[in-house]
Amino acid sequence: MCGIVGYIGQRDAYPIIIKGLQRLEYRGYDSAGIFLYDGETMHLSKTKGKVEDLKHKSETSIDISGKLGLGHTRWATHGIPNDINSHPHSSNSGDLVIIHNGIIENYESIKKALQERGYVFESDTDTEVLVNLIEEVKQKEQVKLGKAVQIALNQVVGAYAIAVFDRTKPDEIVVAKLGSPLAIGIGDNEYFVASDASPFIEFTNNAVYLEDEEMAIIRLGKEIKLRKIKDDAIAYPTIQELQLNIEEIEKGGYDHFMLKEIYEQPRAILDTYRGRLRVNQGIIKMAGIDQNLEKFLNANRIIIVACGTSWHAGLVAEYTFEDLARVPVEVEYASEFRYRNPVITDKDVLIAISQSGETADTLAAIKMAKEKGAFVFGVCNVVGSSIARETHAGAYTHAGPEIGVASTKAFTTQITILTMIALKLAKEKGIFSESRFHALLTELEGIPAKVEKVLESNVLIEQIAEVYKDSTNCLYLGRGYNFPVALEGALKLKEISYIHAEGYPAAEMKHGPIALIDEQMPVVVIATRKGHYEKVISNIQEIKSRHGKIIAVVTEGDEMVTELADHVIEVPETTEALTPLLTTIPLQLLSYHIALMRGCNVDQPRNLAKSVTVE
Ligand code: M6R
Repeated sequence: MCGIVGYIGQRDAYPIIIKGLQRLEYRGYDSAGIFLYDGETMHLSKTKGKVEDLKHKSETSIDISGKLGLGHTRWATHGIPNDINSHPHSSNSGDLVIIHNGIIENYESIKKALQERGYVFESDTDTEVLVNLIEEVKQKEQVKLGKAVQIALNQVVGAYAIAVFDRTKPDEIVVAKLGSPLAIGIGDNEYFVASDASPFIEFTNNAVYLEDEEMAIIRLGKEIKLRKIKDDAIAYPTIQELQLNIEEIEKGGYDHFMLKEIYEQPRAILDTYRGRLRVNQGIIKMAGIDQNLEKFLNANRIIIVACGTSWHAGLVAEYTFEDLARVPVEVEYASEFRYRNPVITDKDVLIAISQSGETADTLAAIKMAKEKGAFVFGVCNVVGSSIARETHAGAYTHAGPEIGVASTKAFTTQITILTMIALKLAKEKGIFSESRFHALLTELEGIPAKVEKVLESNVLIEQIAEVYKDSTNCLYLGRGYNFPVALEGALKLKEISYIHAEGYPAAEMKHGPIALIDEQMPVVVIATRKGHYEKVISNIQEIKSRHGKIIAVVTEGDEMVTELADHVIEVPETTEALTPLLTTIPLQLLSYHIALMRGCNVDQPRNLAKSVTVE
């Protein structure tokens, strides 16, 4: 849950590292640090706070020259966010410097043993233990850095992406990976190391993604040497050509990544179905499904595992798969599923949903399901991510980089993919007539234009936000397909504005939450004409009788809810299964504006990180 960056080459390392850390701040942002080597002297600067704070501190306190550097942006696990616990960490001799993303689970016993042998520790981190273990191995075994890293890593339990520098071998960086991502950018007589490719995309399109349990020795003027950490076997790097472009990872004129990503949704949904949804031919082409159709058609059930927003997309899919394709579905929090000793057989298909493709609990759930014989299908956004590699087959959402910590376009593109799978299965099972299938494909094709239309309500939503920005609680209600949207709306509000919010199935309100309703309580109700409309109107009446304030998301031209609600936001008419793709958008904008008005950091909410690579 941290971001790491490294550079060795002919350029000044400082600007590359700082810019790279800014791009990786979505991974963690409670403290940051940088290490630079200028050929003679090692310079270290670390601080609690953001990369901007680090920049200020470094430029006023250390010599920022040097053609080699390591940088780190942290999401604290062991030890509070402060200057000392920030990375990079140095070994006792001062010769070794390390940056680390991950957790060394057995660090306490190693630390105790090292202390007994005279090692002292400044910080509370597991990482400082690791760098000293490497140092001890190096001295005791009289080996070079690469070998020492390898021996030390064979003694640790946990997850890591590390980069290590040794003053006695200053033309190389040693990196290793298990469980946390690590990419090496290959330039012209220069190398980059990072948690993802964004820090080096303007310098090179060639990258090697380390596999788990691989390490690499990166030496200037030499080709990278890859080997397996466990048994020392030589591994051969596969150089991939990157598809990322720089505009995609910059704000492009928007004030925040979140807003940019909300507005990107028409394009993102279109990119998700592009080439797959072939309305004229009346087919959906998805290689991962086409090649494994029998598995899906013969499955006893589909189990969906995910976390957070991706779990909400899974809940929407539960409605879609059961309603359209008549397949039984269970949706599970990956973190619960993996520890529940669930009954899984080889007749189960497990779909893992993850924007980042790195979420630790989802990854562990996949591994468990595979061991028990299930067929595992991934729905990921990040190409080449751990989950994408770990699954038997999958489909990328092609949403483009999502940098804002609050997921927006990931959600709608995940729903798009999952809906296409459900439609495809329904067609294969002969559930739909050709004409109904064609009508649904046409409707899905028209969704981007309808999302554009919803985005036109931005100013109205900003005005509504102004009214409710000081609320302390908020309730979100929806039924059927829009129940998961209520959950998602509540999650968006709480994670970026820190207002307590709850999502509920509208009918459940009377079993408890109704007690919360008074004239201070805003209630966001998704009340589109398709799906339980009259019943939701009854729920609105119940809120109104208790003086709650109603913000309703309704279908264009609605009259009945409009009469009752304090505020209405219209979305275009669509088929019920596709309504979440439209009703979600106003809720994203509402939380964005409220968070902004409350002075919150929209893109980097407190205590959160974009990729949750710890369990
Ligand atoms: O990368 P993933 O989709 O696996 O991430 C899952 C959650 O961590 C993520 O959706 C989280 O809940 C977001 N902050 C929600 O906006």
